[in-house]
Amino acid sequence: MKNAVKRIGVLTSGGDAPGMNAAVRAVVRAAHSRGIECIGIRRGYSGLISGDVLRFEDTSVSHIINRGGTILYTARCDEFKTEAGQQKAADTCKLLGLDGLVAIGGDGTFRGAQALSKYGISVCGIPGTIDNDIPCSEYTIGFDTACNTAVDAIDKLRDTMQSHERCSVVEVMGRHAGHLALYVGLASGATAVLVPEKKIDFENDVVEKIRSARISGKTHFMIVVAEGAGSAVDIAQKIHEATSLDPRVTVLGHIQRGGTPTARDRVSATRMGYHAVEVLAKGLTNRVVCKKNGAITDMDIDEGLAMKKTIKQHEFAVLDAMTGL
Ligand code: ADP
Ligand code: F6P
Repeated sequence: MKNAVKRIGVLTSGGDAPGMNAAVRAVVRAAHSRGIECIGIRRGYSGLISGDVLRFEDTSVSHIINRGGTILYTARCDEFKTEAGQQKAADTCKLLGLDGLVAIGGDGTFRGAQALSKYGISVCGIPGTIDNDIPCSEYTIGFDTACNTAVDAIDKLRDTMQSHERCSVVEVMGRHAGHLALYVGLASGATAVLVPEKKIDFENDVVEKIRSARISGKTHFMIVVAEGAGSAVDIAQKIHEATSLDPRVTVLGHIQRGGTPTARDRVSATRMGYHAVEVLAKGLTNRVVCKKNGAITDMDIDEGLAMKKTIKQHEFAVLDAMTGL
């Protein structure tokens, strides 16, 4: 354990998520409240390699709690995956006199932080991704905003699908994880939801659901697909072949990554940012902030990264009950 933490850094990395700004603000304000100086690093680990930094004053983070995106910019940096890149980044931390670093992002970002800790840099991760796919945390900043954006779009689609008695196939984000798709599907009354975690039985999971909804009187159908479960265009084509419906396809894409963060994301970001500073101020390292049983806590990054997050079968049972199957 180290004492007397005087200066810390903060960066955002990987895919951005609404609420990252609120997390940056919380880190800066929590640090200042303890008399700790805070340095912002632009463009994730690339900025750490090139020394692209700014000094935060309290006012530098005014009026950002409500803004989507990240004022620090974000990046995916392949050079940082190499030992040479990590050495350069560690040298920058030492040159800046950083006693700790907060890295806001997804599991890739935490792997980066884990690597940096091996060079003697104290690190603490904060989960920020719309995918909610960080195994050690029940919640990741940005998920609620992305869900609400997608549900809002689907509600609009439903109006026109209803008028035309059509089938709609909506692709939401989630290359490797279906948490967003499942949550959005439940919230929008989808006929079927397809996720990468569950092998698709097209006849049972889609066609049969459409048929049974039709028999029970439905004339429009909403199919939600996580991008990692297959292309919405292909799925629409297969539905057409099996049912003679003529589905319309909507790919929501990066719209889900932007926008004003919801109250839930702002508060989660604020609590997590505050907690990360507490962790570093205690002289701890290689930690990740997480939500467990509803409370904000932290754990060892190695342990966190070794965990697996799955979608519980029960969640599909709820969905099936809602679609009358
Ligand atoms: P996310 O944090 O959203 O999962 P990425 O997987 O793109 O996003 O990771 C963000 C960045 O973290 C990468 O561009 C890279 O700089 C760094 N990173 C990812 N994986 C590793 C790794 N195994 N070792 C070191 N750095 C990594
Ligand atoms: O991890 C967040 C996420 O939005 C995924 O849902 C999606 O597959 C990916 O990032 C898209 O990344 P990019 O910004 O490279 O298009």
